[in-house]
Amino acid sequence: MDKQYKRTLVTSALPYANGPVHIGHLAGVYVPADIYTRFLRLCERPVAFIGGSDEHGVPITIKAKAEGVTPQDIVDRYHTIIRDSMKELGISFDVYSRTTSETHAATASEFFRRLYDKGVFVEKDSMQLYDEKAGQFLADRYVVGECPNCHAQGAYGDQCEKCGSSLNATDLINPVSAITGTTPVLRQTRHWYLPLDRYEEALRRWILEGHTEWKTNVYGQCKSWLDTGLQPRAVSRDLDWGVPVPVEGAEGKVLYVWFDAPIGYISNTKEIYPDTWEEWWKSDDTRLIHFIGKDNIVFHCIVFPAMLMAYGDNYQLPDNVPANEFLNLEGDKISTSRNWAVWLHEYLRDFPGKQDVLRYVLTANAPETKDNDFTWKDFQARNNNELVAILGNFVNRVMVLTHKYFGGEVPAAGALADVDTAALAEIKTATEALAEAIETFHFREGLRQAMEIARIGNRYLQETEPWKVSRTDMARVATILNTAVQICANIAIACEPFMPFMAHTLADDLRIADMKWSMLAGEAIVPAGTKLAEAHFLFEKIDDAAIDAQIERLQRIKEENRLKAWKPAPVQAEVDFDTFCRSDIRVATVTACEKVPKADKLLKFTLDDGTAEPRTIVSGIAAYYPEPDKLVGRQVCFIANLPPRKLRGIVSQGMILSAENSDGTLSLIAPSDTVAAGAQVK
Ligand code: MF3
Ligand code: ZN
Repeated sequence: MDKQYKRTLVTSALPYANGPVHIGHLAGVYVPADIYTRFLRLCERPVAFIGGSDEHGVPITIKAKAEGVTPQDIVDRYHTIIRDSMKELGISFDVYSRTTSETHAATASEFFRRLYDKGVFVEKDSMQLYDEKAGQFLADRYVVGECPNCHAQGAYGDQCEKCGSSLNATDLINPVSAITGTTPVLRQTRHWYLPLDRYEEALRRWILEGHTEWKTNVYGQCKSWLDTGLQPRAVSRDLDWGVPVPVEGAEGKVLYVWFDAPIGYISNTKEIYPDTWEEWWKSDDTRLIHFIGKDNIVFHCIVFPAMLMAYGDNYQLPDNVPANEFLNLEGDKISTSRNWAVWLHEYLRDFPGKQDVLRYVLTANAPETKDNDFTWKDFQARNNNELVAILGNFVNRVMVLTHKYFGGEVPAAGALADVDTAALAEIKTATEALAEAIETFHFREGLRQAMEIARIGNRYLQETEPWKVSRTDMARVATILNTAVQICANIAIACEPFMPFMAHTLADDLRIADMKWSMLAGEAIVPAGTKLAEAHFLFEKIDDAAIDAQIERLQRIKEENRLKAWKPAPVQAEVDFDTFCRSDIRVATVTACEKVPKADKLLKFTLDDGTAEPRTIVSGIAAYYPEPDKLVGRQVCFIANLPPRKLRGIVSQGMILSAENSDGTLSLIAPSDTVAAGAQVK
């Protein structure tokens, strides 16, 4: 399919260095990009895998301000965490650099300058939001307000996270500065705009006609942007953190982060290939693939391509942009600010040596066509029921049997029986389907095919039963185990893109020095006479305790978030004093209290209200007082002059007062000292 391409340039979205990487980033971008890259390497096709941290942008400066440190401190901290944790997960970048590098500043600056010199930009004065107290313009996330589209509160100056629409800060209703909380004023400022409208036709032809093979979610988003009509976009900002705008009179202005970040792919290529980087970007026989999440589609399919078109010089446009949807966590959207995430560096700490398990689960569950959910129970089940029970178990049986019958030396195969050739043929079909799936970015399907090899292996052992045949025909056992060892070798190679740690351990066990995709269809991969390593288990069960600890951690976070988010209810419409005074609130002493049969929520109170007649009130607080007889003797407040109501056949004479806590639970109101039954609350 892409025989005409000499090399593939794989980029993965540069993560913002304002926080660590979580499973959503991994499932959406880095794991699929790594699978693809490792596959190409196994196929001995030239590939460069470009990564790096995105270290500019407003969220980084906001975080720095909040912590009282410099933006550089923030990006240094997170760049290190991200780089190290991705490396530990086996994400095999050829380069992982950063947009605060000198190479990047020079590259981004030159890129802007060239477009400027070519007269590409529209230079425009406009009124922008300005915080008089802070003495600075408020770009992007420095302003929050009401979304003009969906009217959600808390929309940012560049985007509403509720409805996903991208915004200009000046579009917000009731904007407020995120720095000082004051209402900004409008002030004039000059910026440079990339006139996307002028590239609309070219983009339309290139994507809508030329790339109908793109994933439907990607193609659909592009079509909707193009059909709405493209607008010029400002590519500079009034900020002091970023690449300075390389134009005279542009002091205090930097390149917009979404202008400089994608150029980071180019800068980082230069860092590994200072002499040949241009081949990777500017020759027709290079194929460029961007791995991103769905929130990045417009920048990679529209804005960056328009920048490349504007630059000229034969810069190649992406051949494909296999963007993923989002991964949710236990049913809720992953959120850095709400700490609702499984952080990679924490996973690596809590599950040491289990990199492949995470890679496996994130691929098996990848949000390729729709948002998907990660749950710890599913993580455990896939490990125990698939990796341990299917793959690990098969390989272990083969190793154990080879040691038992042949001292660990791979026996020579005799003539193959039908059952042997059938199994090998099935494996060939699976590996071909696997390659096809990866080539077309269907990584879940690819993984399914890789696991299919282990399933075929298990069936093969079940059918051939070498442990029985060993009583009568050791020559046949030799053929069976030779075949089974070859199946293990196929597993190692086919799984390498997905689970590289397991694959390399298994290859070592089988003494395969150098795995190549072409070995799959060829001769016996492991020659007879090879002395295998001792049998061991490639995967181990994950017990409930480890999973429960993670679930409890998430519950704690949910609880913390709920407390943080709790606000007193808005005050109701005014009532005049006299109306209020007509409510007769009194204290009573509980003389009896019991559950109302067949009504979960209700308690029946018998009260001494100071009169001769006991008063009955039914109250919906049973859930919070599971032992109602313990309330006897306590005092409560109630409204004495409500009309009686019948509840479950009981006449309730008034209403008992309680306070609703932040978690929705109710707590009875009582005087702080015991008072006479019937005392009025004034
Ligand atoms: N930092 C961006 C994000 O996390 C992605 C930048 S991709 C690049 O959404 F192309 F700009 F580098
Ligand atoms: Zn909105």
